Amino acid sequence: MQIQQNISLRQYNTMGIDAQARQFSTFGTVDELQELTALSESSPRLVLGGGSNMLLTRDFNGWVLKNELTGIELIDETDEYYYVKVGAGENWHGFVQTAISRGWAGVENLSLIPGNVGASPMQNIGAYGVEVKDVFEELEAWHWNEKTTRTFSNNDCGFGYRESVFKRQLKDQYVILNVVFRLRKQPKFNTSYGAIEQELEKMGVKELSIAAVSQAVINIRRSKLPDPAVIGNAGSFFKNPSIPAAQFQQLKQNFEGIVGYNNPDGSVKLAAGWLIEQCGWKGFRRGDAGCHAKQALVLVNYGNATGAEIYELSTEIVDSVQNKFGVELEREVNII
Ligand code: FAD
Ligand code: EPU
Repeated sequence: MQIQQNISLRQYNTMGIDAQARQFSTFGTVDELQELTALSESSPRLVLGGGSNMLLTRDFNGWVLKNELTGIELIDETDEYYYVKVGAGENWHGFVQTAISRGWAGVENLSLIPGNVGASPMQNIGAYGVEVKDVFEELEAWHWNEKTTRTFSNNDCGFGYRESVFKRQLKDQYVILNVVFRLRKQPKFNTSYGAIEQELEKMGVKELSIAAVSQAVINIRRSKLPDPAVIGNAGSFFKNPSIPAAQFQQLKQNFEGIVGYNNPDGSVKLAAGWLIEQCGWKGFRRGDAGCHAKQALVLVNYGNATGAEIYELSTEIVDSVQNKFGVELEREVNII
């Protein structure tokens, strides 16, 4: 554990924003976290995973604590499931690859999502028809003030679309230490979403496997999403908004091509990327802040944009979508 002062966070966030941390430390054990809890008492704290879902809009005048708790352990099994406990600091895609190589099924559709395991329940990460809540058993988290560890069941986490209690009611109260996943012995393939079937066909896959589904998802993602190592970004900047079915029908009369998917509750989830593109933002660039040319839902930093510039652009996008469609976009990325 090495404490540093006034360091740049540029290499620690995939947006590549050059904000400073007043104090910075990693922790690789719960003992180190306890030590840091005492040292950072009464200061603002920011827990950092892979920094792939945050926008730093200012220097952080407090402690930035990077979670490096590791370990992937098979802790139990039944006829149907493997129960696997994973340290919060493990890289998410690294865990997915381990699961695939061990024949643990259920996370293959979530391949190539950047970031760490500890953040996966924060916003209930999701892609290609699967969300973390579908494979989540429980997690352990450290409470900053009570200085104790609590176990959260699936129900306790209040998962929703890109939501959990850790983003809402319990925001900034807990550090997630590890997550237990419930993975299937017999895969239950989910290839109904988007272009997966098409990609599998293109790959010449005759017999489905979790490795093949993973590779199909990887191929699709690579073709659409910018690689943060090349262009700074944090994935989708906004959520896809849901609106009542009647409002959708009305919008459809004025905007024939509008993209919407039916939710189980009867509302309709709109493709925010389509709304943003229709407002003319796709490929827009001002200074180094921009809206990705292939995926309008992704805001990008071409090099030296500040967090404030990206935030300002996101506000202009929210306003224009509101004016044109009467639909409010909500930011998905954590604004710090
Ligand atoms: P960070 O950005 O480090 O943290 C995110 C938030 O969680 C912060 O508020 C942080 O304080 C908090 N936090 C992090 N770790 C802990 C912890 N251990 N305890 C308590 N709080 C913690 N997301 C999807 O859902 N689906 C996608 O398909 C997807 N695609 C993406 C594609 C790209 C190219 C990029 C850049 C991002 C994408 N994302 C996607 C967003 C991102 O990958 C996920 O949200 C991921 O889970 C963030 O992990 P992280 O470790 O980088 O979190
Ligand atoms: N679209 C456009 N223009 C664009 C982008 C999208 O018209 O510039 C339309 C297209 O019609 C497309 C539809 O929007 O068919 C949906 O686009 P896409 O399949 O790329 O998915 P998305 O809704 O933009 C969501 C998630 C992604 C996740 C993918 C795959 C949210 C906010 N985003 O994106 O998650 O990987 O589906 O499941 O739900 C993330 O959260 O960071 C993220 C990348």
